[in-house]
This record gives sequence, structure tokens and C-alpha cells, in this order.
Amino acid sequence: MIPEMISHYRVICKLGEGGMGEVYLAEDTKLHRKVAIKSLPAKLLMDKKAQKRLVIEAQAAAQLDHPNICAIHEQLEEGDRSFIIRRAGRGPFSWNRPQRHKAAEHHHHSSWKSKSAGLRTGEDSPW
Ligand SMILES: Nc1ncnc2c1ncn2[C@@H]1O[C@H](COP(=O)(O)OP(=O)(O)O)[C@@H](O)[C@H]1O
Ligand SMILES: [Mg+2]
Repeated sequence: MIPEMISHYRVICKLGEGGMGEVYLAEDTKLHRKVAIKSLPAKLLMDKKAQKRLVIEAQAAAQLDHPNICAIHEQLEEGDRSFIIRRAGRGPFSWNRPQRHKAAEHHHHSSWKSKSAGLRTGEDSPW
């Protein structure tokens, strides 16, 4: 489970998960933009090494500046949990995303566009 609020980020829904983390879409209530928040899954919460790996992942990704990598906004601790706050995209690395059929891609883009009504944060951001 993830808290409803983490610092000034309001959690909206789950975006996905991998072997190391769970990623949620959240609203930055100060800057009024969507972000992706990564935290450890419940089974790793007590694992000090896993917490450390999450921080190292944030520090490593923060050194990168590339259009296909969602930028790191910040890394924070709340309670005794660590979180990575980064740009919300389709995934942490956009070259990893599954290739969709062109028509599906087009449909996706138009529904994202109408949903977000001008609030998109960048060319490649669906949010
Ligand atoms: N910045 C992001 N924007 C949107 N979805 C994301 C983002 N980061 C991760 N995700 C989603 O969460 C899943 C797991 O994230 P990932 O960083 O790969 O976790 P792990 O380190 O556990 O493999 C991704 O496959 C993707 O679906
Ligand atoms: Mg992964």
C-alpha cells in the first residue's frame, strides 16, 4: 500500500510495477503537474538494501539528461520509506515501451490529448 499523500504529491493510480518497485501516477499539488512516484513493493519495505538500491537508482538516473529517459525531479524519504519522483511518461525509458500498431497509437494519443486538455508537460508525455 502507498500513502494517499507523499509530501505534497497526491497519489492517483498505479502505473505499473517491476521486480524492484511499484510506480504510481501522482499530482504535484504545488506545481500542478503529473509525476511518477516509485516506491518499494510491500515485501521489500523492511529490506534496507532494497531501500538503498532505490536511492542509488535515483542518484544514477539524476545524472542523465536524455529525451528518452523520464527526468528525476527528486528523491525523498517519508516515514521510513524512500521514494523517487520523476517525470510521468509511458515508462522510465521510452525506448523500452512496446511497439503499438499505428492506429492504436493514434487512438491513444487523441484520447490522452482530450483527457489532459492542454496540461501535458512535454511532447512525449501522455499525462
Ligand atoms: N516515469 C514513468 N512514467 C510512467 N510509467 C512508469 C514510469 N516509471 C515506471 N513506470 C511503469 O512502472 C513499471 C515499473 O517501473 P520500473 O522502473 O521498470 O520498475 P523496476 O525497477 O521494478 O523494474 C514500468 O514498466 C512502467 O510500466
Ligand atoms: Mg523495470
